Amino acid sequence: MANFSPSFLDEVLTRTDIIAIIAPHVELKKSGSNLMGLCPFHHEKSPSFSVSADKQLYYCFGCGVGGGAFQFLMEHDGYAFPEAVEYLAEKAGMEIPQDTERNPAAEALQKGAYDVLTRASAAMNRALHGEAGRKARDYLQQRGLPADIIRDYALGYTPAGYGFMQQVFGKETRSNEALESVGLLFKGDHGYGDRFRDRLMFSIRDRRGRIVGFGGRVLDDGQPKYLNSAETDYFHKSDLLYGFSEHRDHIRKSKQLVVVEGYMDVLALAAHDLKIGLAPLGTAIGERQIREILRLCDSPVFCFDGDRAGRQAAWRALERMMPLLKAELTPRFLYLPDGEDPDSMLKSEGRDAFQQRLDNDSKQVLETWLMGLKLLAGSGADGRARMAKKADTMLESMNDRYLRQAWKQEVEQATGISLKYIQRQKQANPDSREQPQTSTPLPELTDRQERFMAGLMQQPERFRQLPELATCFFIDNDSMKSLYSRAFSIQTDAEDNNTDIARQLAQEFPDCQTLISRWVNQAAVLQVEFKSLSLDMEFNGIRWRMKNGLNLHETIQAKQRLNAIQQQQRTLSEQLMAERSDLEEQLQSEQSGDTGA
Ligand code: UTP
Ligand code: MN
Repeated sequence: MANFSPSFLDEVLTRTDIIAIIAPHVELKKSGSNLMGLCPFHHEKSPSFSVSADKQLYYCFGCGVGGGAFQFLMEHDGYAFPEAVEYLAEKAGMEIPQDTERNPAAEALQKGAYDVLTRASAAMNRALHGEAGRKARDYLQQRGLPADIIRDYALGYTPAGYGFMQQVFGKETRSNEALESVGLLFKGDHGYGDRFRDRLMFSIRDRRGRIVGFGGRVLDDGQPKYLNSAETDYFHKSDLLYGFSEHRDHIRKSKQLVVVEGYMDVLALAAHDLKIGLAPLGTAIGERQIREILRLCDSPVFCFDGDRAGRQAAWRALERMMPLLKAELTPRFLYLPDGEDPDSMLKSEGRDAFQQRLDNDSKQVLETWLMGLKLLAGSGADGRARMAKKADTMLESMNDRYLRQAWKQEVEQATGISLKYIQRQKQANPDSREQPQTSTPLPELTDRQERFMAGLMQQPERFRQLPELATCFFIDNDSMKSLYSRAFSIQTDAEDNNTDIARQLAQEFPDCQTLISRWVNQAAVLQVEFKSLSLDMEFNGIRWRMKNGLNLHETIQAKQRLNAIQQQQRTLSEQLMAERSDLEEQLQSEQSGDTGA
């Protein structure tokens, strides 16, 4: 990993506004001192995703993700850490420091590769609109793809014969090698040749929207019908989904997603104003792709041809999906009439009819599974036995034990055979967001301690209100001790109240970043509450001291202080109650004022 200095990272963050990074993906509304929106990392109906503009940290109270601008780019857009840093540095107009640990040559090569791919795509688009592209243009027209789709999805054409790429990039060895490394040229006995010739070209983007490869379709009945870029360092077919970066935000907003088989299906949907299609790149859909799909939408519809091959593909997808299923997810399967695909259906019956199919004809995954099992097993008593057996092994792969139990009962009902009870608690899935895996244990705090920290992070000047004993708070909490004492020293060393303590801490304790984001983003800790929390902390601190040995005089003093604290707490809680009822009264009078108006 590249080694950026803390001061450089700090500078990047200072010049970055996290709101500008998040806002294109999440609709944020002001709520108290923070902004709230629907979490882009899990499915929800009411917003629990909070961003603090002040502290530049986000946190989701629904799924527990949190962090700063770097994390958002990493989690949401799949950037590696150094890429996220460079991206934001560049955006801020900063020079990126080159240190010895990094390999500038390799990086230039990589950056060069993306440039080559982007330039190649643009050249293909120009060729499509040029003289040689007439045939391809006619073809697109005949297939009903309008100009805006051609532009937005970076469609293109590679002319027949050899030499197109070299026309664009020149014939120097360097550019030949670059083109070969991204799979646009191959090296044959007679020099370099174009991989794609006389094909309609589909540019394929990664999740960050960078062009990483191509699919090319023949314009006639030639073979192979589709040719894809070869696997390269930049192009991993099984990790990509066609349409992902183009449709991600729209899918989230519309809560609709359709998984289709081909590029043309994705584009036909888009041309019918359904920018909700995703397709694997000619390979069977894999677990990583399904995971990505289920993260984006909790009710995707997987479309398949109704023929035998389509049913087999659906079954494979279902098998891959089983470990990822949860009761909260409702993926569906839609079988289209024999020999049809979404493109042909849209053409023959139009958008509304297709939408109807998505809504009404798609089947729940359980139903699809039971049907598939029956088909596989055949009829009769031995068929039922085979079905039970197959179901049993498939159920093993399910991680959600409630769903597994429910499905097991369904199979038992269908077959009349009781399945063995699978009690094995599945291991937590390392990728799943609900169970973040950390190397060091995260601090465990009580609710009051958590509010105390939130109060401090929200208003760091409160550090100065703390009693002398405050240096010993959290002393018996090993994982919290160092974080807290660092916070303490940052704040007491600072000359003014403006140190961005939360950000500095998050940077110095990357493992605790989520925790810090949560403190910063939770409901504001008001002064009375903070006072009470701080007394709490002191109370426990004194008790801890007493346990660990004080002399008689000290013990007497400590006991007096404990009594005083209890007295103050009572006063504070009365105050708090009074404030609350004031607030309620105010609210009520405002409401009645509203209706009166
Ligand atoms: P289809 O053969 O169903 O093609 O392949 P299609 O998408 O309906 O395209 P049109 O409508 O005939 O133009 C589905 C997907 O399988 C991959 C491609 O990704 C294609 O979109 N494929 C197909 C290949 O990779 N190679 C092939 O030779 C054929
Ligand atoms: Mn088709």
